[in-house]
Order: sequence, then structure tokens, then C-alpha cells
Amino acid sequence: MSAQPAPANLPPVEPETPADAGQVTALVDSAFGPGRHAKTAERLRETSSPACGLVVRHDGRVIGSVRLWRIRVGETRALFLGPIAVDATERRAGLGAALVEASLECAAREGVAGVLLVGDLPFFGRFGFLELSGAAMPGPVDPRRLLWRPISVEAPAGAVIGLRD
Ligand SMILES: CC(C)(COP(=O)(O)OP(=O)(O)OC[C@H]1O[C@@H](n2cnc3c(N)ncnc32)[C@H](O)[C@@H]1OP(=O)(O)O)[C@@H](O)C(=O)NCCC(=O)NCCS
Repeated sequence: MSAQPAPANLPPVEPETPADAGQVTALVDSAFGPGRHAKTAERLRETSSPACGLVVRHDGRVIGSVRLWRIRVGETRALFLGPIAVDATERRAGLGAALVEASLECAAREGVAGVLLVGDLPFFGRFGFLELSGAAMPGPVDPRRLLWRPISVEAPAGAVIGLRD
């Protein structure tokens, strides 16, 4: 995997609208399978308000999506990233990277201390995500998959709690 910038001819990352919701759900279900609702990440999202929803569209179809949620880790305000998904026929073109970069811009705008997610370090490491120990998710998580992208706080600790507006 390279650290090259996304090609310039990719379709843009845009804000999700209410009309996208059905297609986003279908995309995420097809990427992760219906069992995703049982995951600890889903439980955290259920108690959080969305901060950003971002999509990539092509010919009126949603081919990429990411959502970010308001949380705190101990007393540190952060965003929780996920789910992120790209249509299986559109992968390896840089859309995933473009969605992560746009997510980090959302977090910077929100003024939070960093971004938390549950995911694969081999994919997210290139965006500055690192394993985070010392944060307690509201359910079981493989500790090697709990990742933090610092913005202003290197490694927060404590319970991970969803925040409502
Ligand atoms: C992860 C995902 C969003 C990446 O989207 P994408 O548009 O293919 O991403 P990019 O084109 O920017 O990057 C593709 C690169 O990431 C690599 N990659 C993708 N998923 C990876 C993973 N889980 N672990 C390690 N590398 C991964 C690809 O092999 C590819 O490498 P290459 O550049 O050497 O060919 C997409 O594969 C997806 O929707 N997967 C299913 C849902 C999922 O797993 N979400 C993330 C949870 S970890």
C-alpha cells in the first residue's frame, strides 16, 4: 500500500443528505454483513450524535460512505469514525483514503482532540492512527484494532462514552 495522494480524477467527497440514508445502509450492510448491529462499535454509535456524514456518489449512486460520532474518552472530546465502506466494485482507487482524509478534516473543524475507531492498523496506519491502550470501550473489542489518530491529545485514557448534542 502506498502513501500517495488520491488521484485527482476521483469523484468528490460530499456531505451525506437524508436522501442518501437508504443507499448508505445498503452499502454498509453489503460491506460488513447484517451482524454489524451486534458489534461494540454499533452500541457506541447508538448513544452518540452524528458529527459528520460523508459520501462519494457516482452516476447518482452512493459508492462510498463514512460517518463520525461525538464521543469522549475519559474527559477528552473526540469523534468515533465508522462505519466506512466503499462499494466492492470501486475499491483500490483511493476512495477509502479520500473518505478518511475528509473525516480528519471534519474532526479538525469540530475542534476535537482526536479520532477513535475500531479497524485494521495496516489500512489506517498510513493516516496516523496508532493502537490506543487505556481506553475502555462499552463492550468487547480486539485491543489491536482500537486505534487513535491524535490531533491535540497523544493518548487519552478512560471510558469511551457517546455524547448527545
Ligand atoms: C476498507 C475500505 C473502505 C478501503 O476502501 P478503498 O477505496 O479500497 O481504499 P483505498 O483505495 O484508499 O486503499 C486501498 C488499499 O488499502 C488496502 N486495504 C483495504 N482494506 C484493508 C484492510 N482491512 N487492511 C489492510 N489493507 C487494506 C487495499 O489492499 C489497498 O492496498 P493497495 O493500495 O496496496 O492496493 C474498503 O476496502 C471497504 O469498504 N472494505 C469493507 C468494509 C471495511 O472493512 N471497512 C473498514 C474497517 S477496517
